[in-house]
Formats: sequence, C-alpha cells, structure tokens
Amino acid sequence: MVDPVGVALGVTLVVVVLAVHFAAGTDRTLPGDISGEVLERRAESVPETDFAEPMNRSVGGGGVPAGAVGGGEAGGELGEGEAGAEDAGPSAIPDDEAETFEVEYAKEGETVEVKENEHLLEAGEDEGWDLPYACREGQCLSCGGLVTDGPSEDYLTHDSQEMLSEDELDDGYTLTCVAYPTADLTLETNEAP
Ligand code: FES
Repeated sequence: MVDPVGVALGVTLVVVVLAVHFAAGTDRTLPGDISGEVLERRAESVPETDFAEPMNRSVGGGGVPAGAVGGGEAGGELGEGEAGAEDAGPSAIPDDEAETFEVEYAKEGETVEVKENEHLLEAGEDEGWDLPYACREGQCLSCGGLVTDGPSEDYLTHDSQEMLSEDELDDGYTLTCVAYPTADLTLETNEAP
C-alpha cells in the first residue's frame, strides 16, 4: 500500500529543495581570479633579494632567514676572492696562488714541500706513506700528529676540528687531515694526546 502522507511529504521536500536551489543560484556572482592580487600583496610584504629563491619564494623576492647575508646594499655582497673564499677554507685557494712551505715529516725522515691548500695527511700520502686516518673530517683522533716546535696553530691552520682542546693545540697536537701549513714546520705523525 502506498502511504499518501509519505508521498505528499516527499513531493513537498523535492519542491522545497528545487526552490532553494534556483533561488540561490540566480543572482550569485562568482568572485574573480584573485591570485594576481594575492601575489602582488605578497611581493610588497617581503624584502627583495638578489639571489634566486626556490619555488614560490621567487615571486616578488623572499624573506631573508635569520643570519643570512643581506643582499642589495652596499657592503652586503661578497666580492670575488673575499670572505666567501676564506669561509671555504684553505683548500679553496687556487693552486697557482697557494704558497708553499717546507714540512719535515720527522718519523719518515723526509722534508716535503706542502702547499697551503693541501693538508698534511694528503701531502704525506702523496709521498706514498701509509699514514693513519679514519674520518678525514676532523672528527676523530686517528690522524693525530705533533708539531714539535710549539703550538700547532702557530704553524698551521685547521680547516675544521672538534677534537683537540686549546691546551692540546698549544702542546703542538694537530689533526693532519684538516691541517694546512702556514709556516715551515716539523711534524711527527701518528701522535695523539
Ligand atoms: S681522520 Fe679523523 S680527524 Fe683526521
């Protein structure tokens, strides 16, 4: 049996839904494309940079992270061969500009000319010596050596090292894998504090 009350309710519901649908749809205007406006506003709100930025940050410049080098202003940019090269360490010095120092490898009984852009471990290996090492990044003591004439950093510079204390450096210890000569020196390889 068909329930006339149910049919009447169903028909009423359909009529109401159709009425609401057409009433809401007739006068509505869709918003235009605002993406250009949004990008314009963003471009005004972030500082310009002189370097390419990834993805959407390239639109209208981008924020400069804390500690980053500011661009565009006098003194804010690095010139060729300035601090950028220094930050890269002695290994970044071009071969034809690198100064040469005499390094006496005491235990090996040889004096070798080592460029300021070449670390002491590598220079010894180039001579065919089997010198000790592990990480080659200044993070262990395997390549340790001893500068016999005084504080090691009076004779060389460490590109990076986190293992030797100030006192140990003053006692002449060095990590040969990250040690670049800055003066003539005598080195005892395979020595660690
Ligand atoms: S090999 Fe690890 S510090 Fe040199």
